[in-house]
Amino acid sequence: MEISTNYVITQDELKDKVILVTGANRGFGRAMTLDLAKAGATVIMLGRDLGSLETTYDEVVDAGFAEPILYPLDLEGATPEHYQQLQKDILDNFGQLDGLIHNAGIIGTMMPIEQYDLKLWYSTMQINVNAPFMLTQFLIPALSKSADARMLFLSSSVGRSARAYWGAYGVSKFAIEGLSKTLAEELEKTNIRVNSLDPRRMRTKMRQIAYPAENIENNPTPESMSPAVVYLMSEEAKVLNGEQLTLELD
Ligand SMILES: NC(=O)c1ccc[n+]([C@@H]2O[C@H](COP(=O)([O-])OP(=O)(O)OC[C@H]3O[C@@H](n4cnc5c(N)ncnc54)[C@H](OP(=O)(O)O)[C@@H]3O)[C@@H](O)[C@H]2O)c1
Repeated sequence: MEISTNYVITQDELKDKVILVTGANRGFGRAMTLDLAKAGATVIMLGRDLGSLETTYDEVVDAGFAEPILYPLDLEGATPEHYQQLQKDILDNFGQLDGLIHNAGIIGTMMPIEQYDLKLWYSTMQINVNAPFMLTQFLIPALSKSADARMLFLSSSVGRSARAYWGAYGVSKFAIEGLSKTLAEELEKTNIRVNSLDPRRMRTKMRQIAYPAENIENNPTPESMSPAVVYLMSEEAKVLNGEQLTLELD
């Protein structure tokens, strides 16, 4: 299903919502953090680089949007104990979680499976699949306390239709699609709606690594795409569950 990126954000439409975004420091995560905060949500900005997390935090505050929370965590090294602490921090401070956006990811490398570097395979699977799985498992109790919670998994076309040489990244996105669908079925009768989202192509570091010969300027900015994420967290999008969503390109 295609989702329009022309959504007009209304001030305070996500007021009182607490939404966790992984990889909130830059790229698409940064853009959605700004828009979610613009809509009044308190964004828990999870990322591994404190410096760029703080830069994005300052941008949000300087713009006069809802003040976010910084949560430095490296998803590659994070253990169940870290996720347990995160669950406790969220429940102690907010009592609930209204949105969980699994955005962080790495591209790995372009290589045939036969030669794929084992260490990079493990890292990619850890960050792109195992971390979202653990985050989900530990945060379902907090999402269950919300009257209307959303979970969104950032996916990719290569996680829906296989492409040679995309290696661990493509396989990780297939896993994400499976995780998203399985959760949507398991949580169908609860207040938690679960969907995956393929943003197509955006002017970010990941796209530049994946397509080094391309003129990056020809891709839409993440800021032009992120209003769609506010829509997906809004009351209007409550009907969506178990969908493989794709952002519309103008
Ligand atoms: N860009 C596209 O065209 C495109 C297309 C399809 C799908 N997507 C998906 O959209 C999502 C966002 O992509 P993007 O283009 O914004 O990528 P990006 O610019 O490379 O940003 C990736 C984000 O993930 C974070 N991250 C990576 N490893 C991490 C770790 N170990 N712990 C915590 N955070 C970590 C990065 O933090 P650091 O700054 O610390 O590295 C960064 O914030 C990804 O899931 C990607 O697969 C993107």
